[in-house]
Amino acid sequence: MPTLLQAPLSKDEQTIIDKLVSERMGRPGALLGILEAAQERNPHNYLPLDTLRYIALKTATPLARIYSVATFYALFNLQPQGENTICICRGTACHTRGSRNLLQGTRLDLGLGLEDSESDGTEADKMVLTSPDGKFTVRTVACFGQCAMAPVVEVNHRICGHATERTVRREIATIRGGE
Ligand code: FES
Repeated sequence: MPTLLQAPLSKDEQTIIDKLVSERMGRPGALLGILEAAQERNPHNYLPLDTLRYIALKTATPLARIYSVATFYALFNLQPQGENTICICRGTACHTRGSRNLLQGTRLDLGLGLEDSESDGTEADKMVLTSPDGKFTVRTVACFGQCAMAPVVEVNHRICGHATERTVRREIATIRGGE
């Protein structure tokens, strides 16, 4: 296993992180800010392990701590993200109004299959899947705080209330049509 001293990032990537660290170190919430900015600069909106290793090295923070922060906050991604995000609420209000069918229909429409679909029976289960063509990431959340509009789906940060399978299919078709 590579050590922290063997961070195989490109020189450019290292320079970017060096700058992020020097701008933020010593400030409150520095580590969160560094991770957030590093993720924003990643073309696939995620934090590769090599990036975490390099941040650990430059901030003199144990890699285990960096990793636990990156896995604790839902905002951080440890896998490459699709170009578009469909977020389906699996909270109780949305579940009782059919969000499980919405999730399963969306998975099938995007070629994601239904393996592991039983594991999302627990409403708080966080699921993140990216379509094979890298166009869509489907994720679940526990509640958007918009329960009156259940079931709620968010497509590229736009909330769609009272969503149906047809709604989601239309959103996907619109995105594909606009490419
Ligand atoms: S349970 Fe879905 S928005 Fe609250």
